[in-house]
Amino acid sequence: MENIIEIKNLSKSYYPGKKNCVRALREISLEVRSGEFLTIQGVSGSGKSTLLHIIGALDDADSGTAIVDGQDLSKLNSVKRARFRNETIGFVLQDFGLIPYRTVMDNVAVPLLIHQKVKGKVNSIVNEVLEKLHILDLKDRRITELSGGQKQRVAIARALVNQPTIILADEPTGALDSETKKEIMGVFKEISADGRTIVMVTHDDEIAKMADRRVHICDGRITEEE
Ligand SMILES: Nc1ncnc2c1ncn2[C@@H]1O[C@H](COP(=O)(O)OP(=O)(O)O)[C@@H](O)[C@H]1O
Ligand SMILES: [Mg+2]
Repeated sequence: MENIIEIKNLSKSYYPGKKNCVRALREISLEVRSGEFLTIQGVSGSGKSTLLHIIGALDDADSGTAIVDGQDLSKLNSVKRARFRNETIGFVLQDFGLIPYRTVMDNVAVPLLIHQKVKGKVNSIVNEVLEKLHILDLKDRRITELSGGQKQRVAIARALVNQPTIILADEPTGALDSETKKEIMGVFKEISADGRTIVMVTHDDEIAKMADRRVHICDGRITEEE
């Protein structure tokens, strides 16, 4: 199997050259195979979100390379970066990132709205993904009327709606109780079984163990692979 993510000697600092400079990533190298379910584990402040943001082209590295789905991210102009984020990556965040007073349907449809070609098909595409996540019955509910687990299913549905190659999840179970956590991990396992690549960051040992492979990050360095 080919590598869908190839990261080499990647470094990133915040406030470089200043007294309060933070070296968030220090020459990280990491390869992820197509279809793999990888977790990146580390304590708060270890650089997990920074790494995920660079893989998802939300942020730039200072040095090193990140080749994701065949694209060298440092070489993309802003139009291509936006397209890459929309078509290649599905993001799932800890606090769900949903629009509270809109319906489930409206929220999941958001990534489709910039595609002229799907106009008229938005309803059927959203229905299909809601059905897959077993939340079709919640379609017309507002986000404010949902439980944490239901919100996370909606956020996962939104991440999947454009059929991205890679799902990047930043502590997706961080705001959930332990039963709901396991349930949401079950959803990620199903998505993984469909062949999609998943990179999930977490500080939770129990969650990390459920993936195919896990790596640890500490002070901006990958320290351990098992
Ligand atoms: N936008 C930012 N500006 C300045 N420092 C930041 C910013 N984002 C993260 N950092 C710092 O970079 C380090 C790594 O942060 P982060 O990647 O968010 O870690 P994690 O997700 O593992 O908690 C931390 O020391 C954090 O304070
Ligand atoms: Mg983080």
